[in-house]
Amino acid sequence: MTGAGPERLGRPRLHLRETDSTNERARALAAAGAPHGTLVTAGVQTAGRGRQGRRWEAAPGDALLCSLVLRRAGELLSLRAGLAVADVAGHDARVKWPNDVLVAGRKVAGVLVEARPQDGWAVLGIGVNLAAAPAVEGAAGLGRTDLEAALGELLAALERRLAEPGATTLTALRERDALLGQAVTWDGGSGVGDGIEPGGGLRVRPADGEVVVLSAGEVHLARPG
Ligand code: BTN
Repeated sequence: MTGAGPERLGRPRLHLRETDSTNERARALAAAGAPHGTLVTAGVQTAGRGRQGRRWEAAPGDALLCSLVLRRAGELLSLRAGLAVADVAGHDARVKWPNDVLVAGRKVAGVLVEARPQDGWAVLGIGVNLAAAPAVEGAAGLGRTDLEAALGELLAALERRLAEPGATTLTALRERDALLGQAVTWDGGSGVGDGIEPGGGLRVRPADGEVVVLSAGEVHLARPG
Protein backbone atom coordinates (compact mmCIF):
# COMPACT_ATOMS: atom_id res chain seq x y z
CA MET A 1 0.00 0.00 0.00
CA THR A 2 2.95 2.36 0.53
CA GLY A 3 3.66 4.87 -2.20
CA ALA A 4 0.04 5.06 -3.36
CA GLY A 5 -0.98 7.78 -0.88
CA PRO A 6 -3.19 7.44 2.18
CA GLU A 7 -6.25 5.23 1.87
CA ARG A 8 -9.34 6.02 3.90
CA LEU A 9 -9.88 3.75 6.90
CA GLY A 10 -13.01 3.34 9.01
CA ARG A 11 -15.74 2.77 6.45
CA PRO A 12 -17.94 0.84 6.53
CA ARG A 13 -18.15 0.73 10.30
CA LEU A 14 -19.88 -1.70 12.64
CA HIS A 15 -20.24 -0.52 16.25
CA LEU A 16 -21.30 -3.09 18.84
CA ARG A 17 -22.23 -2.14 22.38
CA GLU A 18 -20.90 -5.51 23.50
CA THR A 19 -19.15 -8.29 21.64
CA ASP A 20 -16.74 -11.14 22.25
CA SER A 21 -13.78 -9.61 20.44
CA THR A 22 -13.67 -6.93 17.76
CA ASN A 23 -10.88 -8.92 16.11
CA GLU A 24 -13.18 -11.95 15.95
CA ARG A 25 -15.98 -9.87 14.39
CA ALA A 26 -13.57 -8.25 11.90
CA ARG A 27 -12.18 -11.66 10.93
CA ALA A 28 -15.70 -12.88 10.19
CA LEU A 29 -16.37 -9.79 8.08
CA ALA A 30 -13.06 -10.22 6.25
CA ALA A 31 -13.88 -13.86 5.51
CA ALA A 32 -17.25 -12.71 4.16
CA GLY A 33 -15.58 -10.25 1.77
CA ALA A 34 -15.59 -6.95 3.68
CA PRO A 35 -13.60 -4.22 1.92
CA HIS A 36 -10.30 -2.69 2.93
CA GLY A 37 -10.77 -0.21 5.76
CA THR A 38 -13.83 -1.87 7.32
CA LEU A 39 -13.91 -0.97 11.02
CA VAL A 40 -15.39 -2.80 13.99
CA THR A 41 -15.62 -0.98 17.32
CA ALA A 42 -17.13 -2.06 20.62
CA GLY A 43 -18.04 -0.61 23.98
CA VAL A 44 -17.21 -3.81 25.81
CA GLN A 45 -15.47 -7.07 24.87
CA THR A 46 -16.24 -10.26 26.74
CA ALA A 47 -13.34 -12.21 25.21
CA GLY A 48 -10.81 -9.58 24.15
CA ARG A 49 -7.64 -11.14 22.83
CA GLY A 50 -4.06 -10.06 23.41
CA ARG A 51 -0.78 -11.21 21.94
CA GLN A 52 0.74 -14.58 22.85
CA GLY A 53 -2.71 -16.04 23.59
CA ARG A 54 -3.36 -13.66 26.47
CA ARG A 55 -6.69 -12.04 27.30
CA TRP A 56 -7.18 -8.30 26.91
CA GLU A 57 -9.29 -6.78 29.66
CA ALA A 58 -10.69 -3.24 29.68
CA ALA A 59 -13.38 -1.68 31.85
CA PRO A 60 -16.48 -0.47 29.98
CA GLY A 61 -16.05 3.09 28.73
CA ASP A 62 -12.35 3.21 29.56
CA ALA A 63 -10.97 1.85 26.34
CA LEU A 64 -10.94 2.36 22.64
CA LEU A 65 -11.51 -1.10 21.19
CA CYS A 66 -11.25 -1.38 17.44
CA SER A 67 -10.31 -3.72 14.61
CA LEU A 68 -9.73 -2.92 10.96
CA VAL A 69 -9.95 -5.20 7.96
CA LEU A 70 -6.94 -4.53 5.73
CA ARG A 71 -6.57 -6.00 2.27
CA ARG A 72 -3.38 -4.15 1.36
CA ALA A 73 -1.37 -4.27 4.55
CA GLY A 74 2.18 -3.95 3.20
CA GLU A 75 5.38 -4.30 5.20
CA LEU A 76 5.91 -3.41 8.86
CA LEU A 77 2.18 -3.43 9.62
CA SER A 78 2.35 -4.14 13.31
CA LEU A 79 5.20 -1.64 13.84
CA ARG A 80 3.35 1.06 11.90
CA ALA A 81 0.24 0.44 14.00
CA GLY A 82 2.08 0.84 17.31
CA LEU A 83 3.71 4.01 16.01
CA ALA A 84 0.36 5.46 14.93
CA VAL A 85 -1.01 4.91 18.42
CA ALA A 86 2.08 6.61 19.88
CA ASP A 87 1.53 9.56 17.49
CA VAL A 88 -1.89 10.04 19.03
CA ALA A 89 -0.72 9.44 22.61
CA GLY A 90 1.65 12.41 22.46
CA HIS A 91 5.34 13.36 22.47
CA ASP A 92 6.18 11.36 25.56
CA ALA A 93 4.75 8.08 24.29
CA ARG A 94 7.27 5.35 23.52
CA VAL A 95 6.95 2.12 21.57
CA LYS A 96 8.15 -1.06 23.19
CA TRP A 97 8.99 -3.32 20.27
CA PRO A 98 7.13 -4.57 18.45
CA ASN A 99 4.05 -2.45 19.21
CA ASP A 100 3.22 -1.87 22.87
CA VAL A 101 2.71 1.81 23.56
CA LEU A 102 4.03 3.14 26.86
CA VAL A 103 3.38 6.48 28.53
CA ALA A 104 5.50 7.21 31.62
CA GLY A 105 6.59 3.57 31.54
CA ARG A 106 3.03 2.21 31.67
CA LYS A 107 1.48 0.24 28.85
CA VAL A 108 -1.50 2.18 27.54
CA ALA A 109 -2.17 0.36 24.28
CA GLY A 110 -1.66 -2.94 22.56
CA VAL A 111 -1.86 -4.12 18.97
CA LEU A 112 -2.87 -7.56 17.75
CA VAL A 113 -2.47 -8.39 14.06
CA GLU A 114 -4.17 -11.55 12.83
CA ALA A 115 -3.39 -12.15 9.17
CA ARG A 116 -4.53 -14.61 6.52
CA PRO A 117 -2.30 -13.73 3.57
CA GLN A 118 -3.58 -16.74 1.64
CA ASP A 119 -7.08 -15.23 1.79
CA GLY A 120 -5.91 -11.68 1.16
CA TRP A 121 -6.65 -10.01 4.48
CA ALA A 122 -5.23 -8.96 7.80
CA VAL A 123 -7.13 -7.80 10.85
CA LEU A 124 -5.46 -5.03 12.83
CA GLY A 125 -6.82 -4.89 16.37
CA ILE A 126 -5.97 -2.01 18.68
CA GLY A 127 -6.91 -1.51 22.30
CA VAL A 128 -6.15 1.86 23.94
CA ASN A 129 -6.75 2.18 27.64
CA LEU A 130 -7.83 5.80 27.80
CA ALA A 131 -8.04 5.89 31.58
CA ALA A 132 -4.34 5.02 31.73
CA ALA A 133 -3.43 7.37 28.90
CA PRO A 134 -4.04 10.96 30.01
CA ALA A 135 -1.92 12.22 27.12
CA VAL A 136 -4.35 10.91 24.51
CA GLU A 137 -5.92 13.97 22.95
CA GLY A 138 -9.60 14.37 23.70
CA ALA A 139 -9.65 11.47 26.12
CA ALA A 140 -9.87 13.30 29.41
CA GLY A 141 -13.62 13.10 29.84
CA LEU A 142 -13.93 9.52 28.60
CA GLY A 143 -17.40 10.21 27.22
CA ARG A 144 -18.46 8.80 23.90
CA THR A 145 -17.60 12.07 22.13
CA ASP A 146 -14.08 11.83 23.46
CA LEU A 147 -13.74 8.20 22.45
CA GLU A 148 -14.91 9.19 18.99
CA ALA A 149 -12.40 12.04 18.86
CA ALA A 150 -9.60 9.69 19.86
CA LEU A 151 -10.75 7.15 17.27
CA GLY A 152 -10.77 9.81 14.54
CA GLU A 153 -7.22 10.84 15.42
CA LEU A 154 -6.10 7.23 15.50
CA LEU A 155 -7.57 6.44 12.08
CA ALA A 156 -5.94 9.53 10.58
CA ALA A 157 -2.57 8.59 12.11
CA LEU A 158 -2.92 5.04 10.78
CA GLU A 159 -3.79 6.29 7.31
CA ARG A 160 -0.60 8.38 7.31
CA ARG A 161 1.66 5.71 8.77
CA LEU A 162 0.41 2.92 6.51
CA ALA A 163 1.01 5.07 3.42
CA GLU A 164 4.47 6.42 4.21
CA PRO A 165 7.74 4.82 3.10
CA GLY A 166 9.05 2.15 5.44
CA ALA A 167 12.22 4.16 6.06
CA THR A 168 10.14 7.05 7.44
CA THR A 169 8.34 4.69 9.82
CA LEU A 170 11.62 3.21 11.02
CA THR A 171 13.16 6.63 11.65
CA ALA A 172 10.15 7.69 13.72
CA LEU A 173 10.11 4.38 15.55
CA ARG A 174 13.78 4.71 16.48
CA GLU A 175 13.02 8.10 18.04
CA ARG A 176 10.38 6.46 20.23
CA ASP A 177 12.20 3.19 20.95
CA ALA A 178 11.47 2.35 24.60
CA LEU A 179 14.08 -0.40 24.61
CA LEU A 180 17.11 1.46 23.27
CA GLY A 181 19.94 1.13 25.78
CA GLN A 182 17.67 -0.64 28.26
CA ALA A 183 18.30 -3.99 29.93
CA VAL A 184 15.90 -6.50 28.41
CA THR A 185 15.09 -10.18 28.60
CA TRP A 186 13.48 -12.42 26.01
CA ASP A 187 12.72 -16.07 25.58
CA GLY A 188 16.27 -17.41 25.39
CA GLY A 189 18.40 -14.52 26.53
CA SER A 190 19.07 -11.17 28.09
CA GLY A 191 20.97 -8.09 27.01
CA VAL A 192 20.55 -4.47 26.07
CA GLY A 193 18.27 -3.02 23.38
CA ASP A 194 20.42 -1.92 20.44
CA GLY A 195 17.92 -0.37 18.05
CA ILE A 196 15.66 -1.44 15.23
CA GLU A 197 16.85 -3.13 12.04
CA PRO A 198 15.88 -1.94 8.55
CA GLY A 199 13.60 -4.98 8.29
CA GLY A 200 11.84 -4.08 11.56
CA GLY A 201 13.57 -6.64 13.80
CA LEU A 202 14.86 -5.67 17.23
CA ARG A 203 18.63 -5.63 17.76
CA VAL A 204 19.70 -6.78 21.20
CA ARG A 205 23.24 -7.02 22.55
CA PRO A 206 23.83 -9.84 25.03
CA ALA A 207 26.67 -9.62 27.55
CA ASP A 208 29.02 -11.44 25.13
CA GLY A 209 28.62 -8.50 22.70
CA GLU A 210 27.34 -10.43 19.64
CA VAL A 211 24.23 -8.62 18.41
CA VAL A 212 21.14 -10.80 18.01
CA VAL A 213 18.18 -9.73 15.86
CA LEU A 214 14.75 -10.73 17.15
CA SER A 215 12.02 -10.90 14.52
CA ALA A 216 9.11 -12.14 16.64
CA GLY A 217 8.08 -12.79 20.21
CA GLU A 218 8.09 -10.82 23.42
CA VAL A 219 10.78 -8.71 24.98
CA HIS A 220 10.58 -7.56 28.58
CA LEU A 221 12.20 -4.59 30.21
CA ALA A 222 14.41 -5.95 32.98
CA ARG A 223 13.65 -2.83 35.07
CA PRO A 224 10.23 -1.63 33.95
CA GLY A 225 9.18 1.96 34.62
C1 BTN B 1 -1.61 -6.99 23.37
O1 BTN B 1 -0.95 -6.04 23.79
O2 BTN B 1 -1.50 -8.12 23.85
C2 BTN B 1 -2.57 -6.75 22.25
C3 BTN B 1 -3.91 -6.33 22.73
C4 BTN B 1 -4.89 -6.04 21.63
C5 BTN B 1 -6.28 -5.75 22.16
C6 BTN B 1 -7.22 -5.29 21.10
S1 BTN B 1 -8.71 -4.64 21.79
C7 BTN B 1 -9.43 -4.60 20.21
C8 BTN B 1 -8.99 -5.84 19.49
N1 BTN B 1 -9.89 -6.95 19.78
C9 BTN B 1 -9.28 -7.92 20.46
O3 BTN B 1 -9.83 -8.98 20.85
N2 BTN B 1 -8.01 -7.60 20.68
C10 BTN B 1 -7.67 -6.32 20.09
